[in-house]
Amino acid sequence: MTAAASGAPLLSVNNLFKSFPIKRGVLSRQVGEVHAVSDVSFQIAAGETLSLVGESGCGKTTTGRAILRLIQPTSGKVIFDGRDVRVRRLLEEVGLRGEYTTRYPHEFSGGQRQRIGIARALAVEPRFIVCDEPVSALDVSVQAQVINLLQDLQRHRNLTYLFIAHDLSVVRHMADRVAVMYLGKVGELAPAEELYREPLMPYTQALLSAVPVPQPGLAKNRILLEGDVPSPAAPPPGCVFHPRCHHPAKDEACGRIVPPLEEKAPGRYAACIKQPPTRISWEEQQKVGGTLPPERYVPDTRRFAESESTTPSPPSHSQ
Ligand SMILES: Nc1ncnc2c1ncn2[C@@H]1O[C@H](COP(=O)(O)OP(=O)(O)OP(=O)(O)O)[C@@H](O)[C@H]1O
Ligand code: SF4
Ligand SMILES: [Mg+2]
Repeated sequence: MTAAASGAPLLSVNNLFKSFPIKRGVLSRQVGEVHAVSDVSFQIAAGETLSLVGESGCGKTTTGRAILRLIQPTSGKVIFDGRDVRVRRLLEEVGLRGEYTTRYPHEFSGGQRQRIGIARALAVEPRFIVCDEPVSALDVSVQAQVINLLQDLQRHRNLTYLFIAHDLSVVRHMADRVAVMYLGKVGELAPAEELYREPLMPYTQALLSAVPVPQPGLAKNRILLEGDVPSPAAPPPGCVFHPRCHHPAKDEACGRIVPPLEEKAPGRYAACIKQPPTRISWEEQQKVGGTLPPERYVPDTRRFAESESTTPSPPSHSQ
């Protein structure tokens, strides 16, 4: 019986880690490690599109390549159709990768190149495809055509996609569920509609506040993140997002406790010990210096565009 028939996920990624050595000097001695992917787990059902979203360097491509065994994971398991992956098998299942496009002559337009890449990918009749930023380099109208094509193919062939993008607006109409990555970890994973309507993890809130509202007269109050993304060679302790987080209950405990990716509402997962409910009790948080109890926080970043110059912005998390 196939996974689809049994109701099991087609792809299951369990506690995936991938580190790259940092080497220096004439002897190429290892002086550290880049923690590109740290404890990533998710499942994709047959016929589903899961989108992996996050800023440059957060580990999206490494996750995709480790699933396909184009690179060897440091640890973790990838189960495809009920079986532990063997290198060759999954590669046969897989076609489209962003880099295919760069192998074709430049006289093709971006969209044509993508269509050739898609056709080539489908020649091996895959069931599962990793689409690594297939539309990022295309202008908006061509983006829509390629996305429509991918969706048509999915319907006709019951394809399953891992669709990688760093722009949340690109995946809005494509993804069934979205996983948001930050510094090698999944910070939030939820059905697309709910994630866009009510982002629970503060990093998702900030990313979404940068996505334009497609409604005339409405705009967004952007949540500006402080500082740069820290280096994946030295990720912050505790919650990797804590140096930049705007949650009003952020405190010492955030720098001490690694937040588990836990179910906050049915099917909606977020890694935040300050967003209730959480299995990290308030007592536990206090023991490591917590002073601010968990408190639900979902800022409404929409505002009327007309009032842009007159609306004062809350100083702590918006501007
Ligand atoms: N082969 C490699 N050797 C060393 N470091 C690597 C290698 N591949 C990726 N990295 C590092 O791992 C981290 C994650 O990279 P990755 O390419 O997975 O990010 P990404 O989310 O796909 O970024 P982008 O949006 O720019 O494509 C980065 O810090 C990157 O520099
Ligand atoms: S655990 Fe703390 S630092 Fe991390 S996202 Fe939640 S509030 Fe912010
Ligand atoms: Mg990438």
